[in-house]
Amino acid sequence: MKKRVAILGAGPSGLAQLRAFQSAAEKGAEIPELVCFEKQADWGGLWNYTWRTGLDEHGEPVHGSMYRYLWSNGPKECLEFADYTFDEHFGRPMGSYPPREVLFDYIKGRVEKAGVRQYIRFNTPARGVSYDKATGQFTVTVHDHTRNETYSEQFDYVVVATGHFSIPNVPEFPGFSHFGGRVLHAHDFRDALEFKDKDVLIVGASYSAEDIGSQCYKYGARSITSCYRTNPMGYDWPSNWEEKPNMTHVEGKRVFFQDGSSKEIDAIILCTGYLHHFPYIDEDLRLKTNNRLWPLGLYKGIFWEENPKIMYVGMQDQWYSFNMFDAQAWYARDVVLGRIKLPDYDTMHAEDLRWREDELKLETAKEMYEYQGEYIRQLIEATDYPTFDIDAVNETFLQWKHDKAEDIMGYRNKCYRSVMTGSMAIPHHTPWLDALDDSLEAYLNAPSGK
Ligand SMILES: Cc1cc2nc3c(=O)[nH]c(=O)nc-3n(C[C@H](O)[C@H](O)[C@H](O)COP(=O)(O)OP(=O)(O)OC[C@H]3O[C@@H](n4cnc5c(N)ncnc54)[C@H](O)[C@@H]3O)c2cc1C
Ligand SMILES: NC(=O)c1ccc[n+]([C@@H]2O[C@H](COP(=O)([O-])OP(=O)(O)OC[C@H]3O[C@@H](n4cnc5c(N)ncnc54)[C@H](OP(=O)(O)O)[C@@H]3O)[C@@H](O)[C@H]2O)c1
Repeated sequence: MKKRVAILGAGPSGLAQLRAFQSAAEKGAEIPELVCFEKQADWGGLWNYTWRTGLDEHGEPVHGSMYRYLWSNGPKECLEFADYTFDEHFGRPMGSYPPREVLFDYIKGRVEKAGVRQYIRFNTPARGVSYDKATGQFTVTVHDHTRNETYSEQFDYVVVATGHFSIPNVPEFPGFSHFGGRVLHAHDFRDALEFKDKDVLIVGASYSAEDIGSQCYKYGARSITSCYRTNPMGYDWPSNWEEKPNMTHVEGKRVFFQDGSSKEIDAIILCTGYLHHFPYIDEDLRLKTNNRLWPLGLYKGIFWEENPKIMYVGMQDQWYSFNMFDAQAWYARDVVLGRIKLPDYDTMHAEDLRWREDELKLETAKEMYEYQGEYIRQLIEATDYPTFDIDAVNETFLQWKHDKAEDIMGYRNKCYRSVMTGSMAIPHHTPWLDALDDSLEAYLNAPSGK
């Protein structure tokens, strides 16, 4: 009997897993039977934009957290697939920070070429994952919304790739229930034009705060105030953007801050992060962690140590993204194919703890992406995923940080060199701040006269 592998989620991580198996099959390996269950009607995960918020057409929590006009917040040269380059997909050079639709097109290009869509059952969220010690198999229970039917199947392995930037972390501040404006989480933010001519408050000091605040600025908010719990973002913001220590409470439309100041606000956008949330996985198999570089309990950042036949892909906080998911997927594949043998529990756990100890020593951004780069390097060395120059990618991250510090509203106009092909990006036809149309068509076709 062929072994069976369930892959939960068809976002970049789940698609990496499908592509990893397909690439082995292409080279002549016999691969297990693959079934990928995807809650949404299409693949691409967060990159598959939806206008919906709250519940989807089936009453499921909407997965999407991306919004209109979102552009990559890191250079595309840092996330490039080693086995499918931007040059191969687009056949021409472009800017380093493409908008969402362009990256979505790139993600799709690789898996369309690989022909793996046949393995995916869409509109089918996982409802349960349990393990039976006696049979050594998992029972995966799903709901097929197309047929409105719940069913279960048995698998030898499970790969969890359902992402962790979808279920919002929503703090409450005193006075919210009587706030005179709108309160929303970044997960429900869709169109910055809604906040044109408004006084917006952004709570949080990480990527969502920085980017949603920047969107609001770009699309004409009257003022942006952002507030931080631990550290300010500290960029040289435009004159109508001020940073304050965290908010304390709200009275009517007036928001109060820890420094004693207050301000009239029209909308509060909570950019306060997301929860790792896997309610469908049995307690003894479920990863529980906050958003960090080394979630504990996963050997090689992938294998659930208590039962390594359940694997998690893409669960780390992400400096690296697409090519990290690939590195993990190729390693997971090789364990399933018997090419890599896992050590015993004690050895796995000791290694896991060493990575955590090292993670706790990290202080600077440079140390963090170098740590994640080293993790990826070690994974890649163990498989046939095409090697690439991690040191050069780290250099690109360094340049990116520098460019952001220099000009937070202009860094997306910068260009970097691909470490995969050696080709240099070219400046986009319109500076990011003036490029209001983020469609694939507008991005690829220069406006007349340019
Ligand atoms: C607003 C925002 C912007 C981002 N921008 C960037 C960026 O510019 N560059 C970058 O590299 N990264 C970015 N990221 C990070 C992002 O996490 C990764 O790029 C990538 O999407 C992660 O892929 P994933 O497959 O692990 O998760 P996801 O993309 O979240 O995909 C998970 C998939 O699992 C499915 N799913 C969920 N629950 C179930 C279930 N119960 N059963 C079956 N299927 C299920 C979902 O429908 C989804 O298709 C951004 C994240 C956010 C939130
Ligand atoms: N392409 C893009 O442009 C883009 C845009 C948005 C997001 N993203 C991606 O999305 C992912 C998630 O980013 P994220 O910023 O949503 O989450 P995050 O990186 O986990 O950051 C969460 C932020 O919320 C703050 N926070 C949490 N609870 C708070 C509270 N009670 N009061 C005040 N602040 C609180 C945290 O503050 P502390 O520092 O105090 O913990 C932190 O600043 C990242 O991978 C990012 O790259 C990309």
